[in-house]
Amino acid sequence: MHGQWSSRLVFILAVAGSAVGLGNIWKFPYVAGQNGGGAFVLVYLLCVFGVGLPIMIAEILLGRRGRRNPLSTMRILGREESGSTRWQWVGLMGMVCGFLILSFYSVIAGWTLHYFLLAVGDSFAGADADQIGQLFDGLVGSVSSQALWHSVFMAVTTLVVARGLKGGLEQAVRIMVPALVAIMLGLLVYSITSGDFARGVTFLFRPDFSALTANGVLAALGQAFFSLSVGMGAVMAYGAYLPQQESIVQTSFAVVSADTAVALLAGLVIFPIVFANGLDPAEGAGLVFQTLPLALDQMPGGTVVGAMFFLLLAFAGLTSSISLMEPVVAWLIEARDMSRAGAGVLCGTAVWLLGFLTLLSFNVAADWKFLRGTWFDNIDYLTSNILLPAGGFCITVFAGWVMSRESSAEEIGFSSGWVYTVWRMLARYVAPIAVLLVFLNAIGVFADGSP
Ligand code: PHE
Repeated sequence: MHGQWSSRLVFILAVAGSAVGLGNIWKFPYVAGQNGGGAFVLVYLLCVFGVGLPIMIAEILLGRRGRRNPLSTMRILGREESGSTRWQWVGLMGMVCGFLILSFYSVIAGWTLHYFLLAVGDSFAGADADQIGQLFDGLVGSVSSQALWHSVFMAVTTLVVARGLKGGLEQAVRIMVPALVAIMLGLLVYSITSGDFARGVTFLFRPDFSALTANGVLAALGQAFFSLSVGMGAVMAYGAYLPQQESIVQTSFAVVSADTAVALLAGLVIFPIVFANGLDPAEGAGLVFQTLPLALDQMPGGTVVGAMFFLLLAFAGLTSSISLMEPVVAWLIEARDMSRAGAGVLCGTAVWLLGFLTLLSFNVAADWKFLRGTWFDNIDYLTSNILLPAGGFCITVFAGWVMSRESSAEEIGFSSGWVYTVWRMLARYVAPIAVLLVFLNAIGVFADGSP
């Protein structure tokens, strides 16, 4: 039998903990930077509120109605609502997707742990942009450092998941996430006073549509799914533990707003530093690690603040990584009769091994390129830009079209009123059509032939 969250606040914290993570602080700035800034950010915001929000509501409502792991939930609800168990494939796809995401997520979380130690050791002192860049190159070039921290992060993730959700982690989110935001506000003050703030703001918020490609639009959609943790069942698995009387819509809205605020805050901190130091906004996956140390070095109390920042970031990653693993683990427990500990260890070990492919793709296997680039490039593209949107598409089609109006209204708590109407419109039309159009656009269906 499934446990339940002890209160609505705990549930909100858990979903917010899943959403807020490396996606906001590490990934959002660098993907926005690679795709030209403003126009990407605008499309991202449209995707978050027009597509991600209704899908998050759909996921939680399905999870709470099914009360099981995503695969069983989709099978049971599919049978109830349409007489077909085929919908379970959506749950399976989500579990595979979470597994793949975690395999690289853990490597990046490992980077933040390494940076925690660098900060403690005062390694950023007096360094210029070149030297900070060398620190980063040194890390990604080293198999052993990355292997160490990747292993530490996976071990902690496994431990937490194996012990179960009631480990006090939700309470910790209550302190750690606000603390992370507080440090970022401090960094924002630095960016405003010492960075090229005007240029950073212009870059982030003035849309230049000529800088946005069809693949950039897909990247914005993918980033929205990734950052909100929707499309793979993480939120669905959490919804399964939500008490019946709690409001799904309010919770989702709060989480989506908070997640977006943190991402924008990260962008506002990072880009002024990028421009003030003549760095390249399109630098790629190392962007945060190559910019923040510069600010931390020059800030009063930067050593302590820096150490805390990277530790809290790793913690934010941990509350996301456990949600990536929860669907598979819940499925192994419920459908395969495994113990929570056994399921956690099995899954954690497999993800840990797979993570080495990502880790090596930054050094010895950096030249091994196919399709989109290195192994990391491919796994990132496959999960964020294909699997999450595809999963989200299926989920919203199911909740909007397959599920009866009575069922969804019952879960949401009301069927009349504009909130329900707006959600249903978004879930039935806007979200699925937007995902389809972005996919078609990315494969070149609307291209007019000009380069
Ligand atoms: N949302 C998390 C982040 O932004 C990553 C994540 C993706 C977590 C998908 C769960 C599911 O860091």
